[in-house]
Amino acid sequence: MRTLREIPALREALGDARRRGDRIALVPTMGNLHEGHLALVEAARERAEVVIATIFVNPMQFGAGEDLDAYPRTLEEDQARLEAAGCDLLFAPDVTTLYARPLEAQTRIVVPEVTEGLCGASRPGHFDGVSTIVGMLFNLVQPDLACFGEKDYQQLAVIRRMVADLHFPIEIVGVPIVRAEDGLALSSRNGYLSPEERATAPRLHRTLCELRDALEADGDIEATLAAGTRRLEEAGFVPDYLELRAADLGPVTPTTREAVLLAAARLGTTRLIDNLTLTLPR
Ligand code: PAF
Repeated sequence: MRTLREIPALREALGDARRRGDRIALVPTMGNLHEGHLALVEAARERAEVVIATIFVNPMQFGAGEDLDAYPRTLEEDQARLEAAGCDLLFAPDVTTLYARPLEAQTRIVVPEVTEGLCGASRPGHFDGVSTIVGMLFNLVQPDLACFGEKDYQQLAVIRRMVADLHFPIEIVGVPIVRAEDGLALSSRNGYLSPEERATAPRLHRTLCELRDALEADGDIEATLAAGTRRLEEAGFVPDYLELRAADLGPVTPTTREAVLLAAARLGTTRLIDNLTLTLPR
């Protein structure tokens, strides 16, 4: 696997692949890779001849007071994992390679509507940073397809909307959440948890499973969500949101069948997110 740090080298390497007529799959990441990221590489591998991963801790998607400086940077381990997973190219640019101007002067992609509420409410500007960097990577790599984890459900919806609105000729592949044996969704931020918090963390997924079962059995939505919030608080979480939305993130209406439960909650200083899809009864 070759690691490329500069845009001209990236363009040259991809030019070779394109001339061969290879399908190119992109796996954008911020590094500190775990099994969830490797599942993205595997999904990419199954669908394309050339797999390119990117590692870029994108400052534009971190708000003031968030963990930009503390975010784990583990390039060497990541390179070894990507290589073992069958990745062909890694693009790992410096911040100034992608953002030539100060961030506030930088052109942005803003996706409306689907960014409202949920993580968009508690992390203002976060999704502008995500859509801008993903749009930039799409422009640089021009992949045939790109793989994203379903754990970041709203992010995936934002990227799908951007691709539709801006007519990027790129297939977006959503890859199911990879969980630890106890149900905790894998995340680079799980490394921030103390041993006690790590023991509590799977309660988030367990609570979502209990709520799903209640809702699929025709439980009252408001009462079920209120009970879920209480259960999370009793377990030691500070819930940010716990919501039921239609699968496309629109509001739930009497005709909604395919829906998704979404939660974000803090455990100490660590913010965890998770989601679970479900089918509402008629
Ligand atoms: O999900 C992530 O790791 C990031 O938000 C992404 C998509 C790589 C953009 O920086």
